[in-house]
Amino acid sequence: QEVRVFAPATVANVAVGFDILGFAIQRPGDEIVARRSTEFTGVRITTITGTGDKVLPLEVERNTAGTAALRLLEHLGLQDSVGIELEVHKRMPFGSGLGSSAASAAGAAVAVNTLLGSPLTREAILYFTVLGEEVADGSFHADNVAPCLVGGITLIRSNESLDIQHLPVPANLHVAVVHPEIEILTRDARAVLSDTVPLKTAIHQLGSLGSFVAALYTNDLPLLGRSLRDYIIEPQRKQLITGFDEVQQAALERGALGCSISGAGPSMFALCDSGYLAQAVGQAMQAAFQQRGVESQLYVSPI
Ligand code: HSE
Repeated sequence: QEVRVFAPATVANVAVGFDILGFAIQRPGDEIVARRSTEFTGVRITTITGTGDKVLPLEVERNTAGTAALRLLEHLGLQDSVGIELEVHKRMPFGSGLGSSAASAAGAAVAVNTLLGSPLTREAILYFTVLGEEVADGSFHADNVAPCLVGGITLIRSNESLDIQHLPVPANLHVAVVHPEIEILTRDARAVLSDTVPLKTAIHQLGSLGSFVAALYTNDLPLLGRSLRDYIIEPQRKQLITGFDEVQQAALERGALGCSISGAGPSMFALCDSGYLAQAVGQAMQAAFQQRGVESQLYVSPI
């Protein structure tokens, strides 16, 4: 018996909510295969594909998928009686800002849970998935794994208690995600961040986050556009992304509601009020990257 799971890429932070907001996109996504084995107990990773010239650890405790699967098995008390083989097929680059490590962790947790007859809900496996992702970036935050597991836009009231809210999505809201060929590890992108936020900056950000959430509930896309601002993280991280200012400007000039860094970067996202516009905005962003000599991939998706 075998279970195959598609785990979508995600856009975390969404400009207004560092570590507490994220949404899933249709593609790309990782594929995880889980099957039972009678030859051992616990979790083994048998195959990892799609990593190009990079090597991901096969060792379970150092691999996001392996760790998520093992923690789940341990929670169910089955680590000494059940054996599970995992295949991890990476279909998106890591260090991309697309939630690659989160996708592998979420895919593995869902695959193992399904293989065992779905004893836990998606919400209940979130904790083990975050533990898996933590292996890659050293911090405990669910803004990629939550939307990867449950879809849509998710708001995290607390990363400590994993109190997750599903937010409504206005009809026709689409995203262009552009992944430039630059690699930034989340760990490194977190290291550049200051621990403190000036009060005035916090006030701006709180106003934007509140207004963004209000705009989702009221289908107010102009308000959503005005709200999509990152006063705290973007100014500290944008220098890691060649061409950031030009790409953001190109997206806004072409009609995007807003544009910022996807997760820890270097991918950038732009929200748009139609799929057609998202395609055009994405192409304008790619052209701006190319002017700085940076090749990129474009993904357009409804949210
Ligand atoms: N919120 C996280 C960050 C997402 O921006 O560092 C990447 O894992």
